[in-house]
Parts: sequence; C-alpha cells; structure tokens
Amino acid sequence: GKVAVMMGGNSAEREISLISGKAVLEALRSEGVDAHAFDPAINPIWDLRKEGFDRAFMILHGRFGEDGTLQGALETLGVPYTGSGVMASAISMDKWRTKLVWLAAGVPTPRFRMLTPDTDFAGVIAELGLPLIIKPAREGSSIGVTRVNTPAQFADAFALAYRLDPLVIAEEFVAGQELTAAVLGDRGLPLVRIEAPEGKYDYENKYFTDVVRYHCPSGVRADTEDAIRAAALKAFQVLGCRGWGRADVILRNDGSFAFLEMNTAPGMTSHSLVPIAARAAGLSFEDLCVEVLKGAAL
Ligand code: DAL
Ligand code: MG
Repeated sequence: GKVAVMMGGNSAEREISLISGKAVLEALRSEGVDAHAFDPAINPIWDLRKEGFDRAFMILHGRFGEDGTLQGALETLGVPYTGSGVMASAISMDKWRTKLVWLAAGVPTPRFRMLTPDTDFAGVIAELGLPLIIKPAREGSSIGVTRVNTPAQFADAFALAYRLDPLVIAEEFVAGQELTAAVLGDRGLPLVRIEAPEGKYDYENKYFTDVVRYHCPSGVRADTEDAIRAAALKAFQVLGCRGWGRADVILRNDGSFAFLEMNTAPGMTSHSLVPIAARAAGLSFEDLCVEVLKGAAL
C-alpha cells in the first residue's frame, strides 16, 4: 500500500526534515515502495486513510512530529508508523525528563539543572562549573544551544534558549570525544566518532559545511565501544523507544562516558550519522530506509 513520508512540519528543524524526507522518499521509491511526501504543516492528516495511505514513515524532526503529538493522531487514525510511540517520543523530545529517567535507570548522563527566569545563575555556575552548556530542553540540531565560558555569558545564553522553549536546562560540560550510538530494531550499530574543528558541531557544521569528519569504525577501544553500544541499547529501552533511534554520547579520556540525549527521528541527510553507522553494518541508505519502514507499528 501507499506510504506517507511525513516530512517538513512546523518546528525549527523544518528545513532539515525536508532534506531528510526527500532522501528517504527517493530511497524508498528506488526500492519499489509506493511512497509519497506528506507535510502535516500543509495537509491535515485526517485524510490519510481516505487517501489510501496505510503506513507512515516519520521523518519530522522536533516538536509536533518527533514529540508524540502526531504519533497520537496516527494511533487514533489506526495508521501504523515508524519509530517510537507516543510516550517514548514525548519523553525523548524533552532532554530534562530524558535525563531524569536515565538517572533513575542508571544510564550515565552529565549533571544538570533546570533553569527558570528566577534561578540563581551564580548558584548554578558554582554547582556545575564552567564551561557549561545551556539548551532549550525540546529542540534539536543544536538550535538554541550555547557553551557558556564565563559568568557574563550566562544570562544571554539563557534568554536565547528561553525564547525557543520555556523549559531550559544547564548541563555540566563534559570534555571528551563526541560519539553517537545508533539503534536499529534491537541492535546497537557501530559507533560514529565526530571530529569537529574546535568542537564546533553546531547547526551550520552539522548540515551545511564539510569541515566535520566522521569516523566509523570509531577508533574507540573495542571494550569501550562494546560498553557504550550496550549502554545505548539500555538508554533506548528504558525510554520505551521502538524501531530506531540515535543516542549522543561523550567519552571522557578516562574511559567513562555520558549520554546527552535520545533522538527518535534522527536526521537522514547526506551529512547525518545513522546512515554512516548503518553503512558500517552492511546496510545501504536504501536498506536502512526499508528496515525502518518494516518496523512500522501501532
Ligand atoms: N535532530 C536531528 C535531525 C538529529 O538528531 O539528527
Ligand atoms: Mg537531538
């Protein structure tokens, strides 16, 4: 039957979703799937069934799409969809609540504090140290994220994040290697190590420059790689995630590691990470798309 590739949406990551979605659409079509672009910011989804769609490939990034809202609508319509369900999508979109779950479950994550306009910023700096990271809790692609190096930068960094999301967190800065751990079905894929100039793996460098280098195999010691892959599966499972996802991780020089967040509709652009990990596991981009689609469920 017809597959709706859900792309676009109205989040700050709309532009990225359109790039991911186009790549997924072309891959599925090349595999003979009757796939069509569907942008819920333009077309109401209530007609999906009437229009003959019987599955949805979710490649919307950010709020209203990756956060459980649209998943709930599809549940109501009875249209199976790829990736995580309502609860896991909602929690994973929210970095603060993700970290609370991980803390409770013993998944290592950097120390953090929720920030409000009333927070004693100096107290947070005393507690977490400098540098620290300020982020909107429910954004993606590094949008609104600032590394705060001096106390004077704190207020502006908070204001920037707060404009995007009233839920803001400060997180201890963890020095180390930047890694990502993709999960496909019930297996952890090979780690990808990200080498960005001066650690600047930001929005521009994630998608629109070619200055970042991606290493897969990661070059991480084999026993450490195994431990991180196992922890990534646990991080995925305790959030209740399904189908596929990608956890971002920092590996410290002493071999310990910390999980930053879970992405339930990871990027599928030419610069994105899950396709790199899949390739190392022997899956082409087309294979990966078909594999994810196979996991569509209610
Ligand atoms: N939020 C972006 C799309 C990612 O995680 O790849
Ligand atoms: Mg993210």
